[in-house]
Amino acid sequence: MSVSITKSANVDSTSRLDLVEKYRIDKYDLHPGYLFPQAVLSLVPRGTPEYIDKGFNYVERITRALFYFKQCALIGPSGTGKTHIVYLVAELCGLPMWEINCGLQTSAYDLFGRYIGLGKENWIDGQIVMWCRQGGLLYLDEANMMKQDIATRLNPVLDTRGHIVLTEKDNEIIKRHPHGYLIISMNPFSAEFVGTKPLNAALRRRMSVWINFDYLSIGDKISSDEVDLLVKRSSIERKIAEKIVRVGAELRRQYKNGDLPYGPSPGDLINWATLVADGCDPIEAAGETIVGTTSDDVEIQAAVKHIVEAIFKS
Ligand SMILES: Nc1ncnc2c1ncn2[C@@H]1O[C@H](COP(=O)(O)OP(=O)(O)OP(=O)(O)O)[C@@H](O)[C@H]1O
Ligand SMILES: [Mg+2]
Repeated sequence: MSVSITKSANVDSTSRLDLVEKYRIDKYDLHPGYLFPQAVLSLVPRGTPEYIDKGFNYVERITRALFYFKQCALIGPSGTGKTHIVYLVAELCGLPMWEINCGLQTSAYDLFGRYIGLGKENWIDGQIVMWCRQGGLLYLDEANMMKQDIATRLNPVLDTRGHIVLTEKDNEIIKRHPHGYLIISMNPFSAEFVGTKPLNAALRRRMSVWINFDYLSIGDKISSDEVDLLVKRSSIERKIAEKIVRVGAELRRQYKNGDLPYGPSPGDLINWATLVADGCDPIEAAGETIVGTTSDDVEIQAAVKHIVEAIFKS
């Protein structure tokens, strides 16, 4: 059993150890004999909700990729649990997390650093530089939306033993921390994902492992684990949970066919179930949740309502 996985836990260590064993990641210690400084320990996620991993072994595959290659890429449609699993892996492995959404217009100043006020003493590090100095898990969400200038500056540090050159700060060279890991995630490049682009080729070459994500239930394939998740998280009757998942699976099928603009995540289905558990009629509750989440186009909303009614009135 690895020492740092056991000791650096900021979460309830017994339950975390059980999970480390359950997910079979005890042999992959990502910071052997090293405890992260107190200042960054608050960045280790805690209390990440339950994740359905059965049959996919995502936790094991991601942790293994980080152990051998220090970085990996996750690809899958919106809502398939990529962000959720990154939090879970960071929590189980005791890694402080630095999260950046590349789709937002985050500037190079925020990511690398800047001087504040007058004088050269007042430099503050940006998030990527903080990660590079202090280690932990850098999570670049929507990596294919990353601006070119940022991608170019990141490339050297992603050669696993790399470094960052701070051109803004007299070309200071910062070596990548030995326990600095990286996960990038993105939606697959396709016409339906507005704004998606193919991933920058240099960034692509630097990723050794690619893990594909998909929905738990889709079309006629209903995952009883997803039904269990809804029952557990919202305390609704199983019979109703099953119908909600059937609606979700059908919407996802149509989404993957290009007929709908969005496929609901398990989180979206839990929101719907929560209102039902509070006493709301399932069709009405769908109107307040899943229908609006799918689109604000009235015609599309009518199509979603139709699917809900077809399944709930059958
Ligand atoms: N396998 C799963 N087990 C439990 N919950 C899940 C699972 N997959 C997704 N969820 C839930 O569904 C919601 C969406 O998941 P998440 O945000 O991780 O998706 P994503 O793949 O990161 O989506 P995007 O590409 O839009 O960023 C969250 O509430 C998450 O907890
Ligand atoms: Mg995400």
